[in-house]
Amino acid sequence: YAERTLAIVKPDAMDKVVEIEDIILRNGFTILQKRKVHLSPEQASDFYVEHYGKMFFPSLVAYMSSAPITVFVLVKNKAIAAWRELIGPTNPFKARETHPGCLRDTYGKDQTRNAVHGSDSFHSAEREIRFMFHDSIVEPIAVGQ
Ligand code: CMP
Repeated sequence: YAERTLAIVKPDAMDKVVEIEDIILRNGFTILQKRKVHLSPEQASDFYVEHYGKMFFPSLVAYMSSAPITVFVLVKNKAIAAWRELIGPTNPFKARETHPGCLRDTYGKDQTRNAVHGSDSFHSAEREIRFMFHDSIVEPIAVGQ
């Protein structure tokens, strides 16, 4: 079934956004929506609220509000898992070993500047899509296949 997920190209990979968009399309995702946005620190904190209190939270918020990002709503059969598979593990150095060729291997710099984001569950996808695209309808849909 077709499912939606939220993808982000983070500040460190914005110079490769055209290349990454091409990879997205070649992997069979439909780009339903796309937006370039510069988050305020408050917005970045809200977006990553589940990580509030963790050691890396302040640097994550500072980083994600440091420069523009591009956010995408992607559609594909089992899009959430498929996109997470394509991006690979959070840590690009680990990604290099376990998922060579994944996006974080190719474009990531370190654990914080890891190039891309993907929703980790149906619930997160709904929330994150609403967060970035206020007027979205986040019901099951049939787009693409
Ligand atoms: P992302 O998939 O966007 O979700 C949370 C982000 O926090 C993650 O990618 C990284 O950018 C960052 N992050 C997660 N774990 C760590 C960590 N141990 N140290 C630094 N940053 C982290």
